[in-house]
Amino acid sequence: MKALTYTHYGSPRVVQITEVPRPEPQHDEILIRVHASAVNTSDWRIRAAAFPGITALPARLIFGLRRPRNTRLGSEFAGVIEAVGPDVKSFVPGLRVFGITSKGGASAEYLALPETAAVAEIPDNLSFEEAAALPFGGLSALVFLEQFASLKANQRVLIVGASGGVGIYAVQIAKALGAHVTGLSGPDSQRLVGSLGADITLNYKTIKLSEIKDRFDIILDTVGVVSPKQARGLLRRNGLFLPLNVGMRELLAAALNPFFDRKIRLTVNPNTAQDLRQLSRLVRDGKVQPVIETVYPLAEASVAHAHVETRHRKGAIVLSILAEETDSAAVAAFGR
Ligand SMILES: NC(=O)c1ccc[n+]([C@@H]2O[C@H](COP(=O)([O-])OP(=O)(O)OC[C@H]3O[C@@H](n4cnc5c(N)ncnc54)[C@H](OP(=O)(O)O)[C@@H]3O)[C@@H](O)[C@H]2O)c1
Repeated sequence: MKALTYTHYGSPRVVQITEVPRPEPQHDEILIRVHASAVNTSDWRIRAAAFPGITALPARLIFGLRRPRNTRLGSEFAGVIEAVGPDVKSFVPGLRVFGITSKGGASAEYLALPETAAVAEIPDNLSFEEAAALPFGGLSALVFLEQFASLKANQRVLIVGASGGVGIYAVQIAKALGAHVTGLSGPDSQRLVGSLGADITLNYKTIKLSEIKDRFDIILDTVGVVSPKQARGLLRRNGLFLPLNVGMRELLAAALNPFFDRKIRLTVNPNTAQDLRQLSRLVRDGKVQPVIETVYPLAEASVAHAHVETRHRKGAIVLSILAEETDSAAVAAFGR
């Protein structure tokens, strides 16, 4: 089968399409025929070994010090279950599923995963491309805002990087939770962020953080441009700052939390099946919609990687692995 691979860390040009053996599902695994796979920020960071802040050394130890230990790329996927191992209880062949894995290999024609992985049924109204566009940004936004920040109705939230991979879902999920949302992004993204439901859109080219008059209960910084000191200045009393990128200054600020009534919380999204099912429900209820900027054929995977690495995409960047007309045939064959 075809798979997206790399043998060295580097620019998007290290991305290759190679023939690799098709995986066989183990007794507790499902085998997915992948139709679409998004390229997200973690995918390009793993390909380039561009790990931010304090994650640089531990990530190199995990992914390979000098060259990648695991040569298979891709984390988000959507497709159809092709086969299941004998111990699998919750999935059957023919089911349309989507999900995310940290073990790599999702940008490939087939993917085998334990049934306990972050996999869920695709909401009926979504195409494979749309489903593949959801997990990375959608889960991060959901988990950070709802679980880590306990965002409540009528609270005021500032989303920094509101048009990025996480930001496009953070705006929608914050609105779904009833919050008042301010989105900060670039000049070309203002309309998009407004269309996602932001009450106020700010352009980082025309306003400095120090010029923002509003004060917030929650600040989610997906970019790494808000310092803990600036965040404390922008937060209301008992407000919470959630940076997605963590360096020494954030660690130091977290250690000083007991001395401030405006806190910083450093954490990571664990990508669970339970959270993915909750994200699915939000999509089914029409509260969250996938946002796709471009769908590339698998053959243009290195262009897709370069696109995401610009850090100015307007929504998800998706690879089509099995073309949509075949998708309809597969769906019809399984009677959906
Ligand atoms: N801790 C975790 O569990 C976790 C989970 C997910 C992601 N992350 C991390 O979170 C980060 C965000 O990922 P992502 O996929 O959302 O990134 P992305 O898609 O590259 O997002 C870029 C966004 O940043 C905006 N931007 C660029 N410069 C800006 C500035 N000076 N001020 C405000 N906005 C600016 C861009 O807006 P314009 O295009 O309009 O300029 C765009 O909306 C990554 O570093 C990722 O590794 C961490």
